[in-house]
Amino acid sequence: MRNFNFNNFTDIRFGTDQIEAHLHDVLASYGQNVLLVYGGGSIKKNGLYERVMHQLPDLNVFELGGIAPNPKVTSIEAGQKMTKAHNIDVILSIGGGSVIDASKLIASAHYYDGKPWDLVLNTKIRQTLKQLPVVDILTLAATGSEMNKNSVISNPETHQKLGTSGPNSPVVSFLDPTLTYSVSKWQTAAGSIDILSHLTEQYFDQAENTDVQDGMMEGLMRTVIKWAPVALNEPDNYDARANLMWSSTMALNGLVRTGKENGWTVHGIEHELSAYYDVTHGMGLGVLTPRWMRFALNAQTEAKFARYGRNVWHLVGSDVAVAQAAIQATYDWIKALQAPTTLTALGIESNENFAVMAQSAVTLKHLDKVAYVPMTSDDVVALYQAS
Ligand code: NZQ
Ligand code: ZN
Repeated sequence: MRNFNFNNFTDIRFGTDQIEAHLHDVLASYGQNVLLVYGGGSIKKNGLYERVMHQLPDLNVFELGGIAPNPKVTSIEAGQKMTKAHNIDVILSIGGGSVIDASKLIASAHYYDGKPWDLVLNTKIRQTLKQLPVVDILTLAATGSEMNKNSVISNPETHQKLGTSGPNSPVVSFLDPTLTYSVSKWQTAAGSIDILSHLTEQYFDQAENTDVQDGMMEGLMRTVIKWAPVALNEPDNYDARANLMWSSTMALNGLVRTGKENGWTVHGIEHELSAYYDVTHGMGLGVLTPRWMRFALNAQTEAKFARYGRNVWHLVGSDVAVAQAAIQATYDWIKALQAPTTLTALGIESNENFAVMAQSAVTLKHLDKVAYVPMTSDDVVALYQAS
């Protein structure tokens, strides 16, 4: 187990009726001027917007809607202008990972006079800045953005989709599973695959004998595997939505990554797909993950894959048989969620960008050094081609 520091200050308000009980007072404790950040309008369709505004009659609420999935740097620029123009005290972020990611970077950009993209390219600048408090209401279980410091921001002009980490996670996160009843089958599947991927990325890691973390992850993986199909078939099943929501938060709030090398191979390879083709993050992971597992299975990794098969998929048999069956089970689970299983099915027809995407993934994520099984850019191209 590697050395680590761990702290997480996000105050979680989980369950129904927390918004009515606490949202107003939480926001007012930071000031009167609130920037409400949201996405393409789902919160207006499902009544959440009205419900929230009803709680805040005495606060000055300014609105920044239209944050797109795979949030673009232009939205951050718009948010930066608004926080400065209206002397914003606190950001209220309502949505999935895209909206919360955008909000966290806007919160930093408030204290910066240059272009927000500078902060994505140079995390050191961002770390020296203060950050406005972000209060969020999560509406989609997937990324863990509700309890981590990360944002993933796209710049379509340069075909870049890059991660950036700020000084703080959200100050308060409202996690009401009923708010995810309206999430489509497509996004429910994508979110669930993303959660499983966060866990496999941290589970299959160069650091060995991390049994505390691996045991927690096995429980979280079993949870997602069990409840995702239920949520797909019964969108308003509270237990399904609650288990998915809490596992999304627990999978990426920093707890299970402690003591690990954190190579994060498949995410680096997927972020290139989103950067070039704007695909849904979880769906890109769903296509790549089982293929990456096949690449990564070898004599050295077989025992870990077998442990995954036994403890997560309840498989029995020899190491090699269980390891292979576990990879097949992962593929079958993704397919059963009605997710695409090939890049073509995701709408990616041409392989003309694969070489440059592969090189970028290897360079940005140091896949030739820190990945669970190191990868060259030729390996990554082969993975794209096999997908
Ligand atoms: O924009 P609206 O209208 O709200 O609709 C959204 C959006 O179209 C919709 N949606 C969200 N909640 C809903 C709903 N529709 C109906 N009912 C609801 N309750 O779902 C669509 C997708 O939303 P998005 O926020 O993009 O999804 P997700 O939470 O999966 O976030 C994906 C983004 O997060 C990044 C991804 O790369 C991607 O950009 N990630 C962030 C991470 C982090 N901060 O740690 C880690 C992840 O690995 C990931 O990279
Ligand atoms: Zn992810």
